[in-house]
Amino acid sequence: MKLSSAALAAAALPAAQAWGGFGHITVAYLASSLVSPPTATYFQTLLRNSSTDYLAGVATWADSLRYSKYYRFTSTFHFIDAKDNPPHSCSVDLARDCKATGCVVSALANYTTRLLDPTLPPSERAVAAKFVIHFVGDIHQPLHAEDVARGGNGIQVRFDGVQLNLHHVWDSSIAEKLVGGGVRRQPYAQARAWADGLVREIQGGRWNESSRGWLGGVDVGDPEGTALGWARESNALVCSHVLPEGPEAIVGQELGRTEYYDKAAPVVELAIAKAGYRLAAWLDMIVARIQSQDAGMGDL
Ligand SMILES: *[C@@H]1O[C@H](CO)[C@@H](O)[C@H](O)[C@H]1NC(C)=O
Ligand SMILES: *[C@@H]1O[C@H](CO)[C@@H](O)[C@H](O)[C@H]1NC(C)=O
Ligand SMILES: *[C@@H]1O[C@H](CO)[C@@H](O)[C@H](O)[C@H]1NC(C)=O
Repeated sequence: MKLSSAALAAAALPAAQAWGGFGHITVAYLASSLVSPPTATYFQTLLRNSSTDYLAGVATWADSLRYSKYYRFTSTFHFIDAKDNPPHSCSVDLARDCKATGCVVSALANYTTRLLDPTLPPSERAVAAKFVIHFVGDIHQPLHAEDVARGGNGIQVRFDGVQLNLHHVWDSSIAEKLVGGGVRRQPYAQARAWADGLVREIQGGRWNESSRGWLGGVDVGDPEGTALGWARESNALVCSHVLPEGPEAIVGQELGRTEYYDKAAPVVELAIAKAGYRLAAWLDMIVARIQSQDAGMGDL
């Protein structure tokens, strides 16, 4: 079959463009709807953007650094290569899986700590904020917490007739199909609409009760432990939903018009919702801590 040029362009997209941009922007809009007013003010000031897009506008910045010499050292910060054995066993072990050059768990911990460091200049804390916003998204994508075939980049599948790699399917294709298209033309408008729907589910809808449980184990005093918990949750989905029959069985399979998609779509939706909800809570905790540090200093 002759692939359309659009299909070829999609297949050639940079492999690790996590959540395809669209997911990251949705997570950021969701968080900006859920943060407390002092948190919004704090980050609007730090990021020098007083619009409602202050988080969404920087959500994909960390992916744009791929070709930047200065930030080349961040290239392994977007994922953790869990060397487990899906679908038989899934696990994340920091000592085994975090590269010497860093991983999403160590990076999220590092940039959270830097955001809390009052001795760093605002420009450095703004950089830290942009990394935190991005990595909370990345860590919720199951294939960013898996080593097999470079996080699925090396596994070719089909999605609605188009040849793609499995990583791209989980970054972008499932989410784009879920919202019904139009993402390529208007990513920000579509992301905001999706985020608004997820906010309604969290505030009174399907997740009204369960969403509080999403903050179990979340402790800004232990950013590494918190991030590791999130990575383990994502990684477990590799066994249950990403590679339920293992990495060999999925090669060449059509995933879009099948039961695979029907099972995967709610998982992606929940992962995006949790990421946005947790990002909001994380930013709230950071600002509460900074403001209590400031209050403490005032007492001296
Ligand atoms: C705020 O961010 C949005 C989204 O990136 C951008 O369009 C807008 O120009 C920014 N505003 C300022 C003042 O930088
Ligand atoms: C923490 O972030 C700083 C600033 O980007 C970077 O120089 C340093 O290597 C990072 N450390 C870790 C452990 O990721
Ligand atoms: C959401 O849950 C709270 C606490 O259990 C409850 O009081 C409230 O009525 C619920 N809201 C909706 C719209 O279901």
